[in-house]
Amino acid sequence: MNVREALVKARVFFADAGLENASLDAEVLLMHLLGIERAGLYMRFDYVLTLEEAKAYRCLIERRVKGEPVAYLTGHKEFMGMDFIVNPAVLVPRPETEILVERALKFLEGKPGEELLVLDIGTGSGAIAVSMARMNSRLRVYAVDCSRDALVLAQHNAAIHGVAGRIHFFHGDLLYPLSNLALEGKADLIAANLPYVPSGDISGLPVDVRSYEPQIALNGGLDGLDIYRRLLPGAGDLLKSGGLLMLEIGPGQADVLVQEMTGMGMVWCCSEIVFDYAGRERVVLAEKE
Ligand SMILES: C[S@@+](CC[C@H](N)C(=O)[O-])C[C@H]1O[C@@H](n2cnc3c(N)ncnc32)[C@H](O)[C@@H]1O
Repeated sequence: MNVREALVKARVFFADAGLENASLDAEVLLMHLLGIERAGLYMRFDYVLTLEEAKAYRCLIERRVKGEPVAYLTGHKEFMGMDFIVNPAVLVPRPETEILVERALKFLEGKPGEELLVLDIGTGSGAIAVSMARMNSRLRVYAVDCSRDALVLAQHNAAIHGVAGRIHFFHGDLLYPLSNLALEGKADLIAANLPYVPSGDISGLPVDVRSYEPQIALNGGLDGLDIYRRLLPGAGDLLKSGGLLMLEIGPGQADVLVQEMTGMGMVWCCSEIVFDYAGRERVVLAEKE
């Protein structure tokens, strides 16, 4: 079986299984297996797979059909044009989260000062912390996660991208691990992509998400906002005046969250809802007065 035939077979198999990105998945898995880029794959259409390669490809195809995300099968995911190592301890970074990072970088660009302090709460693979630190050399980032396995991976990603010296990782619940650092009024920006899926919606998520990605990265309680509710009061304390809070959310959550923020008696101004490319509410921004 040559590369062309292998791709056709995989594509058909994936399409029959109802996978959305049958062609892309077939190519990415074969590229990963052969250790080549897309151009190399196209140039090697007539290359005949060895028996081992054919067996290994079949195994990847079967795992993908059962729902295992491509990123866990390859161990990589691109985010903000950078390669991130991923494993089942972390949520696969989503393109939607790039919207948050882009807005954060734009906000910080105009800020004076030699060093800016950013907090990334629920850092997972480190996608937000690492990409931001890589793209703005003035940033010092404090990144928190309650999963030790996620933090090990995030540290690895920080090292790969040469920003380990500017990102400090903390294990624990939300802002609690930062409580001895006297950060009150010091943060320029707090970014959080914490779990926001309402508990009752988890069973309706696609199988690759619900059965393979960590529950601790998904479940946001009854209406999905339980964890953000716990984060808000402390976030208000740690931000500077004029500092920005950015929370990634799901559809239908923005108004409730903004109402809660104002109802908590905190002084936020300029709140804004940012939509993703599909037109869904994706990020709530609020500046501290
Ligand atoms: C939706 S994932 C986001 C990961 C990463 N920031 C990204 O954008 O790809 C949420 C992360 O928050 C972490 N998390 C969940 N509850 C937390 C809590 N109470 N305190 C700290 N981290 C938490 C999870 O372990 C997970 O890594």
